[in-house]
Amino acid sequence: KIKFRLVEISGIFFYFHCLFFFFFFNVIMAAGGPPGQTGGPQGRHVRSYNHLQGDIRRRKLFSFQKFFLRIDINGKVNGTKSKDDPLSILEITSVDVGVVAIKGLNSNYYLAISKKGELYGAREFGVDCTLKERIEENGYNTYASAEWRNKKRQMFVGLNVHGKPLRGKKTRRKNTATHFLPIVV
Ligand SMILES: *[C@@H]1O[C@H](CO)[C@@H](O)[C@H](O)[C@H]1NC(C)=O
Repeated sequence: KIKFRLVEISGIFFYFHCLFFFFFFNVIMAAGGPPGQTGGPQGRHVRSYNHLQGDIRRRKLFSFQKFFLRIDINGKVNGTKSKDDPLSILEITSVDVGVVAIKGLNSNYYLAISKKGELYGAREFGVDCTLKERIEENGYNTYASAEWRNKKRQMFVGLNVHGKPLRGKKTRRKNTATHFLPIVV
């Protein structure tokens, strides 16, 4: 009889234990992400994407052709030879396994590849902004659209020898125009 009571009591304890954790987990989640995230009019929108609050790497993407990828204040993407162009400072965040979002720190535009393969800066985070990051054999990284393909071929972020963005449909993994070294800022 006593043994039965003990089982019953510990069962009740376990139940409250779970309830307690469930409650506090929700309180913590409801309190929002870590403080000190992006402010301004974009801040509130970005905050609704919890996966964009993961660990943020601040990098420059240095192309094989020695351009720094930049996103200007109008959302235009191209390359610059300048080592200290503030528009080439990027924030790389993991959004899924092997998938990243890349945002211009100063322009607040996300690096994006459209369905047609156009490289552009997107004001808001969306499917165009999900990029598959992969380390290639030469140690450089490639960034392919995680969403769009062109006839089953992946479309990559690329800059040509003049620093102009490549159309995704013309890009290949093996082409060094799509190869970038992330450099710690
Ligand atoms: C990139 O675009 C900027 C204007 O946004 C321009 O001044 C610069 O020359 C361009 N770079 C290249 C390599 O074309």
